[in-house]
Formats: sequence, structure tokens, C-alpha cells
Amino acid sequence: MLASSSDSLKVSALIPTYNRFPLTIVKGKGSFVWDEAGEKYLDFTSGIATCNLGHIPEPVKMKLVEQLLTLWHCSNLYHIPKQEKLASLLVKQSFGDQVFFCNSGAEANEAAIKLARSYAQKEWGSEKYEIVTFTQSFHGRTLATLSATGQEKIQQGFAPLVPGFRYLPFNDMEALNSLVSDNTCAVLLELIQGEGGVIPANPEWVKKLDQICKENDLLLMVDEIQTGMGRTGSLFAYQQYDIEPDVMSLAKGLGSGFPIGAIVANEKAAKGFQPGSHGSTFGGNPLAVTAGIATIEQMIQSDFMNTVKELGTYLSEKLKELKQTCSQIEDIRGKGLLQGIVIPKKAGQVVEKAREQKVLLLTAGPDVVRILPPLTTSQEEIDDLIAVLESIFKYSLTD
Ligand SMILES: Cc1ncc(COP(=O)(O)O)c(C=O)c1O
Repeated sequence: MLASSSDSLKVSALIPTYNRFPLTIVKGKGSFVWDEAGEKYLDFTSGIATCNLGHIPEPVKMKLVEQLLTLWHCSNLYHIPKQEKLASLLVKQSFGDQVFFCNSGAEANEAAIKLARSYAQKEWGSEKYEIVTFTQSFHGRTLATLSATGQEKIQQGFAPLVPGFRYLPFNDMEALNSLVSDNTCAVLLELIQGEGGVIPANPEWVKKLDQICKENDLLLMVDEIQTGMGRTGSLFAYQQYDIEPDVMSLAKGLGSGFPIGAIVANEKAAKGFQPGSHGSTFGGNPLAVTAGIATIEQMIQSDFMNTVKELGTYLSEKLKELKQTCSQIEDIRGKGLLQGIVIPKKAGQVVEKAREQKVLLLTAGPDVVRILPPLTTSQEEIDDLIAVLESIFKYSLTD
């Protein structure tokens, strides 16, 4: 049946999977976006940790335009030189030896889950399939990745879940004693839980986890979909922990906003896959890998990461100063340019008030305001954010 024009005004043709803010963004450049009315907003969400070089970064744009005029798509039945180039860059910058490309974070974690099972079953037999993950984690919305996610609200309504996941409390030393069962083959964790509330993993706990994995030949898999690509002050967050993972999943910032995902694996884990084990029509698409190459080439330029580290320290110090003036703030936590303000039950209100003052922020649950500036931000922009937060904390929060 055809909908009348008045119907189409009332009912969106989109299945309502998102609660959207009352804002329509039509343009972006650097740290800013503009709405339909031409109003300018300071975007400290970076498209949820995705536009890490700001909106439409010039070097990525130029390479994408060149590629747009050359080749858009090529199936993985043929060689794609830029896939090789991006894989080599990722390998050179990390613990990894080989890379598989896909299109999103959930797909990257799906690949990691399949790789872990396949590696362990070849090595040890079919009883080794269990992957340990942690409470409050977030690993994606596909059936396997929501089964890996340690949050009931994400899993609700989708039973039966994919079997073979067990959840332990995050940052709990004691709980590590029960990490290994007869079936365990791998551990999957975020080094800073992003969606779960900006909760950094404790370094001693992570070290112990790494040791247990090494002693029991479990794959240590780090989900760096939110923490990777410079977000926490190093190219990858694991580089700030004294560990050597076996597998790392990436997406979000890898393509500066162009959809791409990847897993990076060491030689041992990569043996889990051979031709026919896994695949994706669009995985490693020429446009996507072009965006990835241009992005990582910017980030590995001398001083880029040093500046990000300095900006992260500046932001966290300014937020800590702000905490002194506002008794409702319980904590400031995070690493680099992934920072959280813990303000119980008020995070949504703070985000709304900031939007009214033309600054975009995110929540991470009801108690945490999540701040994700582009890595190309400046001290002046951070000062602007702090001034807006100061006025919100002083004058506008209601009970
Ligand atoms: C840590 C982590 N893992 C996985 C995902 C899922 O990524 P995507 O939405 O690209 O599927 C996200 C997305 O927020 C994430 O933050």
C-alpha cells in the first residue's frame, strides 16, 4: 500500500534501532560539524571514536578521491596491492604477523572468535572452544559478538545465544583463578571498556591475565576497536601494558570514517585460518584500504602520537581540576583522548546541556559522560569544552 505524504511525515521508513538526538548533521570539517540550520558544533564524539583525524581529513580525502577515479571494488578472488600495503603497515606497527580485513568492529570480533576456535580445535581438538570475556564488556551486535558481550541488556531478546562464552568480573584478580577450564581456548577483552563506562584495565591484572594465557596456550585477544588508532595516546592501547597479545581487532578509527575492520594476528594464531575458512565480499575493499593507509600514515608521522599524548594529559588534568569544583563528579578516568566523567545518574543531562551549548559529547551508561575529541584537536578547543562543562556543573544540573 502506498503511504500518503502525511503518513510519511509521521512514520520513518527506518526500523527504529537507534534513539537519536534531535539534531541533523549535514556537514563536518576538522573538530566541527554543522546542522541543517547552519549552526556549528564542537564534535567531541568523533562519530564514536571513528573520525580520529577529525572530519574529512585532507590527506585521507585526497587519496580517496584518487582511488574513486581508479577502482571502487575488486573481489578477493584477485590480488589487491593496497590490502597488502595496509596489512604491512599494521604488522610493522604492532605485535602482528598477518591481517584479515572486514568492514566493521563486530565483524572483526567475529573473525577473532572464529580464528580462536579454529586455532584451538586444530591444535587441541574439538573440546577447546570456550572464550572468556568480561562483565560490562562490549564486543558488537551480531549474534556471536553480543554473546561475547558481558551485558545482559545487549543480549536481551536474542536467546538462544551462541554457546561457548564465559564471563568473569573485570579487573578482579581473584577471579583469574577460575579463568581456565578444560574447554577454554582464548580470552577477549577491551583494555579500556568504552561502552561499559570508560573503565581502564588495571595493569597488574592484565599482566597476570597475559601470564595465564601464555602458561595455558590460550590466545590473548584485545578488542581495540575503540581504543586503537591513537585514541589512548599510543597507536594501540596494548602498547601501554606490558603484554604481547595474539590477536587484535580494529575498526572505527582505522578508516577515518570510511567503513573498515581488521584483525591483526601473530603467526601462531593466524594458522587458524586457511583458504576457505573465512571471507567477506567487501573486506579490504580498495576504497576502505586506501582510507586505512592514509590514516595510519598520518598517525605514524613523527610527533603525531606525542602531541596526542600531550593533549590527552591536558584534557585529563583540566577535567580533574573541574572535579575539584563540582562535588557531583565522582571520578575522572580514561587514557589519552578517551576520557570519562563519572557523575551518577546525570550523564544524559550533561550531554543534553552540552548540546544546547553546541558541544557534542556521549554517555557510556547512565553514570559516565564520555569525551572523545578528534586526535587533531587543540588545547583551545579543550578549553572551550571545559568552559561549557564548568557552566553546566555550576548552573544547569537539576536533581
Ligand atoms: C570495543 C568495541 N568492540 C566492538 C564494537 C562494535 O563495532 P561496530 O559497531 O563497528 O560493529 C564497538 C563499537 O562501539 C566497540 O566499542
